[in-house]
Parts: sequence; structure tokens; C-alpha cells
Amino acid sequence: MSTNRPIFYLCFPMASSSISITSGVFLVIFVWLWSSCLYANGCYTSIISFGDSLADTGNLKQLASISNRVLPLFLPPYGENFLNQSTGRCSNGRLIIDFLAERLGLPLVPPFLQDKGNNNMVTFKQGVNYAVAGATALDRSVLEPRGIVNPMTNASLGVQLAWFKQSLPSICGNESNCRDFIGRSLILVGEIGGNDYNYPILWGKSVEEELIEMGAKTLVVPGNFPVGCSASYLTVCGSEKEEYDHVTGCLVRLNQFAEYHNKLLQTKLKQVQDLHSDVNIFYADYYNAAMEIYLFPYKYGFTNGALKACCGGEGRYNVDPSVECGDASATVCDEPDTYVSWDGIHLTEAAYRIISKNLFTTPQFNSLCSTSTSGVGLLGSM
Ligand SMILES: *[C@@H]1O[C@H](CO)[C@@H](O)[C@H](O)[C@H]1NC(C)=O
Ligand SMILES: *[C@@H]1O[C@H](CO)[C@@H](O)[C@H](O)[C@H]1NC(C)=O
Ligand SMILES: *[C@@H]1O[C@H](CO)[C@@H](O)[C@H](O)[C@H]1NC(C)=O
Repeated sequence: MSTNRPIFYLCFPMASSSISITSGVFLVIFVWLWSSCLYANGCYTSIISFGDSLADTGNLKQLASISNRVLPLFLPPYGENFLNQSTGRCSNGRLIIDFLAERLGLPLVPPFLQDKGNNNMVTFKQGVNYAVAGATALDRSVLEPRGIVNPMTNASLGVQLAWFKQSLPSICGNESNCRDFIGRSLILVGEIGGNDYNYPILWGKSVEEELIEMGAKTLVVPGNFPVGCSASYLTVCGSEKEEYDHVTGCLVRLNQFAEYHNKLLQTKLKQVQDLHSDVNIFYADYYNAAMEIYLFPYKYGFTNGALKACCGGEGRYNVDPSVECGDASATVCDEPDTYVSWDGIHLTEAAYRIISKNLFTTPQFNSLCSTSTSGVGLLGSM
């Protein structure tokens, strides 16, 4: 995988145009890549998810198997702590979306792409996941002319939305039934690409607006993680010239970049919210939910610190760009629960569990089921 090039967009952002930077950043992340709700079990009848490796529960794995590609992501030790097998989740176990489903009293959200002959349309009634690991927000036709080639997948957010539209009749029947189905679903859009907020400016409607037109009533849109704390970025971008946060050891500039992205995303979400007062749009603050762990790793049992990867190779952060987790030569830690970083880019199940707790046990989350919501926090209404 040619992962180095996009990383350098981020390491040396001044060298490229801004669209390349944002596209490159998010490409890299992907390539390397809630139970006491006020009305528990009754608030939402399903979860519909779009996104990338942070939410993919098996779609890229299915795409790869169709084209006979073997990716290290689908080999042990991925998934070693969950169902004792690789499901295509980019972690040792469960992801944030799994903890969300658990908290809402819903089954784990099945990937949309399934083996042929596997009749899963019934289970899709309680959730369906279109997220694909490696996916970008923007389409290939936009990225490639800018020199960004995604070796993983072309299943951009637009492609995922097209799958959703195509599959709706078999999941929920006619249009009015589907509006009802969508309206009673919690829709998770992301985390995905920093370019979502560029959509309305450059190409018309945002994905969020399209979903609202189709009947969506509750959208949860996560922001970006503090990428400057990622073991892979620390390895590739770190240098004597970089400024490191003296408490966390994270790269200051990359975290500022993620915060900037999140600010633009929130501005965009606020605009969409202002146009649709009957819809609840929540910004999920993945940045600060994760930052809590980077600030206080020991408090949460991460006794190996927050920066070193559990699975990878040699190096200060256990990341060696020539060895990927899943390769035979990769090293794997004995106790993943004591690490925040799983493979350098993605986090461990233990970290995702704490982040989910930080996000989904807040009053904002508990108020998700009721129509009037207020307040700001890790899960802020817009
Ligand atoms: C997981 O699978 C491996 C190999 O199939 C087996 O040795 C191990 O005991 C299993 N672990 C659990 C917890 O089931
Ligand atoms: C995406 O890739 C698949 C398989 O490589 C191909 O069949 C499909 O046409 C591509 N779609 C787009 C929009 O490029
Ligand atoms: C949609 O299907 C339901 C049955 O599932 C039916 O009662 C309803 O009339 C249909 N609506 C339209 C607009 O066809």
C-alpha cells in the first residue's frame, strides 16, 4: 500500500492546495487503516451507518473476498478479542458502533455487503451498515485528478448512499414505509472525510441533506479524532522540528488540524440544522472523548501509555511502515486492553469502549430519544 504519500500531505501541508490536504489526510486515516436511554429499547428501531474503517463491520472484507484480495486487516490478530475471529472490523474487538448498538438495545449492525445466498434482509430492519474501511468522503472522480489514489476502495460516501437508495425497497418496501423506517432510525454519518463540508459548496447537497429529504429525523455526525496522537502519524510525521504537547506527547500541529476540521464540520451541521428544525442533528465529539484518554491513560487502565501501538513492528511507537499488523512478521502485544492504539491508526476495543462511554452516557445522549434536546457537550445538539 502506498500510504506514505498521503501522510506527507499532512506532514507538509503548505506544499499542496487545501483540497489535496484535506483529501489526503482523510485518505490516510482510512487507508491505514450508547443502557439507559430515557426510553430504552424504544427510541430507535434501527441504526443506519455510513463511513469508513471506524465503523465498517465487514463491507471491505466482503469486497476484498469478491475480488480475491487478501488484506492484512482481515487476518489475525484483527478481531482476536471479539467472536474470536476477524469480522472485518479494524480493531482487536468491537467498535464504537457496536457499543452504540448495545446501548440502544439493538443487535450489532450487520454489513450491507453479504455473501450471496445469505438472506439478511430481515435483520437489516434493525440496522444496516454501509461503511467501508478505506472509504473517502469524495468520489474517485474528484480525488484522482488531484493525484490522490485510494488503493483500498472506491466506495466513497456517495457510493454508499447509492447502495442505500438501491437497497431500500428490499429492506422497507414502498416509499412511505421507507420514510417511516428512516425516520425511526438513528443515522450515523461518519466519521468520514474532511471534505463533507466541501460538498455543498462544490457539488450541491450534503449527504446529511439528502438523508433528511429521504425522511431522516436523527443524525449523529462524529468529528475527527486527535490524529496527532496516532502512533502512525507520530512515526511518519514526527521530527525534531515538530512541536509535541508536553502532557500528551501528541503532535500539536496535527491536532490543531483535526480541531480545525471539526470546527468547519460543526459550522456546516449548524447550517443544516437551522434549515431543518424538525430534525435532530448531533455532533459527536470524538476528538475530546478520545483526548480524555490521551490526557489520563492510567486512569482508564492503559498502563502501556496512550501512544504506542499494540500491533505493528519495531520503533518508538511500535510502528514500522514496512510491517503491517496482520503480517506474519508483525509483533502483537499480550494485553491489548492496556493499549489505546491497536495498529497505529485504529484504536483498541478497550479505547473504543471508553470513548463510547464518554459520548453515550452524557445527558445529551440520554435526551436523544426525546424530541427536545439542548445543551452542549461531547454529544452536542446543533
Ligand atoms: C480462538 O481460536 C483459537 C484458534 O482457533 C483457539 O486456539 C482459541 O482457544 C480460541 N479462543 C477462544 C477464547 O475461544
Ligand atoms: C468501483 O470499483 C469496482 C470494482 O473495482 C468497479 O466495478 C466499479 O465500477 C467502480 N465504481 C466506480 C464509481 O468507480
Ligand atoms: C405501502 O405499503 C403498505 C403496506 O406495507 C400499504 O398499507 C400502503 O398503502 C402502501 N403505501 C403506498 C403509498 O403505496
